[in-house]
Amino acid sequence: MPQAAYHFPRGFLWGTATAAHQVEGNNTNNQWWKWEQDGHTDGTSGLACDWWGGRWREDFDRAAEAGQNAHRMSVEWSRIQPTPDTWDEDALERYRAMLRGLKERGMTPMVTLHQISDPLWLYEQCGWEHDGIVPMFEKFVRKTVEALKEYCTLWCTINEPNVYALSGYVTGTFPACNKGLKTAILVQANMLRAHAVAYRTIHEMQPEARVGYALHYRPMVPHSKSPLDAWMRNIQYNGINMSFPSGISTGVMKSPLGNVRIPEAKGTQDYLGLNYYSVDTVKFDITKPQEVFDTRYYPEDSDFSATKFIANIPTGIFDSIKWAVRTYPNLPILITENGVEDAEDKMRPRYIAQHIHQMWRAVNFNWPVKGYFHWSLVDNFEWERGWTQRFGLWALDVETQKRTKRPSADLYAEICKENGLTSEMVQMYCPEVFEKLFPV
Ligand code: BGC
Repeated sequence: MPQAAYHFPRGFLWGTATAAHQVEGNNTNNQWWKWEQDGHTDGTSGLACDWWGGRWREDFDRAAEAGQNAHRMSVEWSRIQPTPDTWDEDALERYRAMLRGLKERGMTPMVTLHQISDPLWLYEQCGWEHDGIVPMFEKFVRKTVEALKEYCTLWCTINEPNVYALSGYVTGTFPACNKGLKTAILVQANMLRAHAVAYRTIHEMQPEARVGYALHYRPMVPHSKSPLDAWMRNIQYNGINMSFPSGISTGVMKSPLGNVRIPEAKGTQDYLGLNYYSVDTVKFDITKPQEVFDTRYYPEDSDFSATKFIANIPTGIFDSIKWAVRTYPNLPILITENGVEDAEDKMRPRYIAQHIHQMWRAVNFNWPVKGYFHWSLVDNFEWERGWTQRFGLWALDVETQKRTKRPSADLYAEICKENGLTSEMVQMYCPEVFEKLFPV
């Protein structure tokens, strides 16, 4: 018996999340591959974690042995539909084998249908900028869900539409066709339309399905009490966080350039997927009129991750859940991503323990959090940041494909197996936060 423990309800889902382009390798037929070859990323995805070569088996073994009872993975559109008029049945068969592999290991599969990568043919016609994307996405979803529904009932239509649109069309770190805020909003509107159609299509094909999307939610605090900082915080908060949530709540998508009516989006979620990483502080800066979306920072005294990409602010996950519960009372919530880049695993153990503790607080208010997917199982290709950031519970040597377990993998395994966090775990893996988590 542990001395003290924060336990979770029976049936809680514990897993990790991965995305096709980041782990599969040799995804030569999507826009990211081209973007990498053109030199826009820190290194190239190459073989990635070689899941397409079959190494998903050994990674799923690791996850299952480590007590994980669920896994969130994504499929690669460019493999399933290599040209507008062709389907690759072998690719679908391979995804079926992966999902079967999860089931055989006792893990509940969750499938994301779109996570940041697009087929090159779609990108070349600036697909998401036109509303013709909606029937195209529907066609892809129909084909994919038909093939995979035997093994999966938990679907995530689109991962982080806000990040896709803002990183591509506003900040330019992701590939995108015609840049600008106006296009970013148009793209999000089309993603919301596509999500709504996918929601209905999946339910029509599989009535028992649970369908939602994953929102990258950034809590934000103003830099000071000045009304200008508060004003700027609200502009950025709404611009970055609220497009999909407003559209799904009311059928009217709010944007910094006005409202967009998408009535068919209203109510199209069976759960809310929350990707939470950190909290931003927002400052009004008169010298940066062009950077309306870029005056966010972490305070100097933050508990910073290895590359300062993330500040460890565990209360942010509690605040994110609280926001979700207030916005959608009674709607199930899944933490679809949460993690930190930390090659040496110095911060990760406390990041995990502190975030899970905050999630426990939320669960104990009876807020309907049903699962947690840590980002990520094994180091994978971090988009424009390439291999410079290591988010895995297991380290990956990209050259040899050798995996090495980090201490966090053991901590997370103990949490999954215990269905909770105990004082012994904290004492062993991150004693530096013991008194914060178990105050005397
Ligand atoms: C994305 C992942 C990414 C992770 C860490 C999230 O925004 O959904 O694909 O790897 O952040 O950077």
